[in-house]
Formats: sequence, structure tokens, C-alpha cells
Amino acid sequence: MELAALVALTLLLGALILLVAVAVRKQNVETDEPEQTAESVAQENHKPLTTKKPKLDKQRTRKDKAQHSFSHPLVASTLKSHSGNVTSIDFSSNGKYLASCAEDRTVRIWSVKDFMDREHKCLRANVDLDTATLVSFSPDSRAFITWLSNADTIRIFKMIKKEDGTFTFKAAPEDFPQKHKASILNIGIAETGKFIMSASSDTSIHIWDLKGEILASISTNQINNSYAAISPCGRFVASCGFTPDVKVWEVCFGKSGEFREVTRAFDLKGHSAGVHCFAFNNDSTRMVSVSRDGTWKLWNTDVEYKKQQDPYLLRTVSCVSSEGSLAALSPDGRVVAISSGCDVTMFDATSGQREEELRGVHSGGITGLRFDINGRFLVCSGDKAIRVFHNAPGYRAAIKDMQEMLRKAQNEAMKQRLQQQIKDAQSALDTVLATPTD
Ligand SMILES: *[C@@H]1O[C@H](CO)[C@@H](O)[C@H](O)[C@H]1NC(C)=O
Ligand SMILES: *[C@@H]1O[C@H](CO)[C@@H](O)[C@H](O)[C@H]1NC(C)=O
Ligand SMILES: *[C@@H]1O[C@H](CO)[C@@H](O)[C@H](O)[C@H]1NC(C)=O
Repeated sequence: MELAALVALTLLLGALILLVAVAVRKQNVETDEPEQTAESVAQENHKPLTTKKPKLDKQRTRKDKAQHSFSHPLVASTLKSHSGNVTSIDFSSNGKYLASCAEDRTVRIWSVKDFMDREHKCLRANVDLDTATLVSFSPDSRAFITWLSNADTIRIFKMIKKEDGTFTFKAAPEDFPQKHKASILNIGIAETGKFIMSASSDTSIHIWDLKGEILASISTNQINNSYAAISPCGRFVASCGFTPDVKVWEVCFGKSGEFREVTRAFDLKGHSAGVHCFAFNNDSTRMVSVSRDGTWKLWNTDVEYKKQQDPYLLRTVSCVSSEGSLAALSPDGRVVAISSGCDVTMFDATSGQREEELRGVHSGGITGLRFDINGRFLVCSGDKAIRVFHNAPGYRAAIKDMQEMLRKAQNEAMKQRLQQQIKDAQSALDTVLATPTD
């Protein structure tokens, strides 16, 4: 697939989602249907928007009742539509959508704007004859890539508008070639739109162009990998695993956009045992890593590695972790979230203080843990449902920072502005906490 074609096709998506949202809202009024789907995907089989029969809904309601129950004052909402376990979640970089994929052979696109509403509509893309186990949005938020567990490869989905005004999610004509031999850990598309990454536990990472040709392959030399990801700035690819380090590479392109090479950038060294997972903040100036050694570490990665500057350790905090633990760092770097089994703990990144304990969030181990782009929500998956939490620790940390600035502020205008901002942030926090949750 041509990049230009991908961009052109995907440019339509924003408008389409709006149209669909309108259509969906209309149908909801008519049918009182709590969720709405867009039928999708098979290249030769475009189905129009359809509405589920009410009968199915009753069955689902009964099933929901039997589901894992969990409540916590920070729950903003619980997104329920998947009929199989959710295996991966990803926010679009325009901040508007959350994608989720599940063992029910679908990918769902949720509207972040609706998180606080009673009902949560979603669009549904069917994955034909396969199951998507990982999902990652394209930088323009108008396409997404998935990992197919049967075909063992990557499939790209785009939004296609049809002549009658309805739309479908459409798979690219060809899946990527099969290249991984071991279980897949993660996939991603760089924010620059220049490459796609896939990583497997056998220490191999492939860097692809958007057409599915391999540009480079990395062997991490970490014996066994547990996690790998692209940095949010789209410059770096990093991995961790059996060895006590996180390795970071830069994927380099020439002035005219042509791929040049993958070079070692820097390492995060300091853990005394293998690393389960890591995460970046939004501009890749901070990273957090969580290790088998029973700690998480926060790193300053705002360095010029080409001038031999190394990232440096800001903080080490003890925490509970286990095989499969995930880490998330809020976009502003103020909050760290670590999962262990079906529990999540939120920490203040600056003080290291434990802020929130979310125990037994899901009936199974946490499979996805992400802050939204604006740092308002922390979202996680671990069974059929997706839980959305208010990022109250983030609000509190921002207020603390502003109070500190107020203490140091010299002039009156600045003081007044800060006082107002603190008041606004406090009332935003009070409002989210006072909102009844489901
Ligand atoms: C590598 O990691 C995978 C997944 O965590 C695990 O199933 C496998 O046993 C590990 N292999 C070795 C050689 O440690
Ligand atoms: C990162 O987040 C901060 C705070 O939320 C925001 O001001 C900044 O614009 C974001 N930067 C990027 C590159 O997204
Ligand atoms: C879905 O997750 C639950 C909780 O972890 C688990 O008990 C169940 O076996 C999973 N279902 C499938 C089909 O894997």
C-alpha cells in the first residue's frame, strides 16, 4: 500500500466518525440501544450500519450481572461491549478515541468525549477469520494496525466511506508477511508515520515501512524480552526483558524521508534484575521502568546521547510487581501507574508516594494500562470490560506544583493567575470526584 494512498484514505476518517456518531445517536434514540456498531471489514463484504436486536441486549445485560464486580471512587466509567477478553488498548494521538481489541474477534473504537456519559457508544470493526490481539492507532488517528493471532502478522485497517454515506472499516488488501517465530509482545506505528515496529519475546524486533517491507531487524541481546515499544515522539524504539536494563535505539531517516539506519541511542541501567515493562511520558523526556527487583525507577531521558550524555536516574520506589506487570507514565510525567496481576497502584512521580491502590480491578491479569493524551484518565483492561479511572493523583500533583510556583511568585499579576488556576484545578477535581459512577 502506498503511503500517499493510506494518508488520503485515512483523511476521511475524522469526518466519517462524526457522521457515524450522528447516525448512531439517531438510531439510539429510535431503538434505545445503549451501544452501536459499525459493521465492517471484509474487503468483499461491505455491510451497512446495522442495529443489534434488542433480544441480544437482554442477554448481554444478564451476562453483565454475572461479571466481575468492582467499585472505587475514582471509576469514571466501565466500557462494556466486548463479548471476549480485551487484550490490548490504545489512544489515538488526537486524544479523541480509544481502540480496544478482544478475543471476540472485534476491534472497538470508543469516544473519549463519552467517557463521562452514562452510555458508551462504540464503532465495531470485525476481524475476519482471525483475532486481533494488539491494536495501535496511526498518527493521523484515521487508521489502526492490529496483530493477528492466527495469521501471526500485522493487518492495517482504514475507514472507507461508501457512496450511500455509510462507512466500513476496511482491511488493507494484503497483510504483512509473516516474520516472527516467537510470541509477539507489541506493535506500534511511529508518530512520524515513517515506520511500524513489531517485537517478539525471542529478542527480535522488526522495523517495517508502511507497505510491509522490513527496513531493519534488531536483535536485543536481552536473552528473552518481556516488552518493547516506540517512543511517543516516534524517534526511538526500546525493549526490556531478562537482563536488568532497558535498551533504546534511534530509527534514523534522511532529509528526504528515506530510511537510513537503526543506531543504539542509550540504555537505562540500574535495576538489579530483569525488567517487566517501561513507559515514556508524552515528549519522551521521562521514562519509567518496573523490575523484578521490586522497584520502579523514573529516568530523565531528556539528553543528547550523541554528545555522550546518559539518561539519569531521578527516583527509585519500591512496589509490588510480577510477571506481566505493566507500567504507564502520565503525559506530563507526574503520575506513575504500575500493574501487578489484577491490581494497579498509582504513584506521585515526584515524591514517589503511593497515591491510589486499585485492587482487583479485573477478574484476570491487567492486559492494557494507558493514560489518555490529556492526562485526565487512566484506563485498563483485564477481562471483557475496560475500566476508566479519573487521574486524581495527576490533578493533585498539578495543584501541588502550582502552589509551589505561587510560593515563589514575585509579582501580583502572576500570583492572581496562579491562585485562579489552583482554584479551577481544585474545582475540576472536586467535580470529577463528586460525579456518580456506575
Ligand atoms: C521467555 O519469556 C516468555 C514470555 O514471558 C516465556 O514464556 C518463556 O518461557 C521465556 N523463555 C525463557 C528461555 O526464559
Ligand atoms: C505533553 O503534555 C503537557 C502537559 O499535559 C503538554 O503541555 C504538552 O503540550 C504535551 N506535549 C506533547 C509533545 O504532546
Ligand atoms: C477471560 O478472562 C478471565 C479472567 O482472567 C478468564 O477466567 C477466562 O478464562 C478468559 N477467557 C478466555 C476465553 O480466555
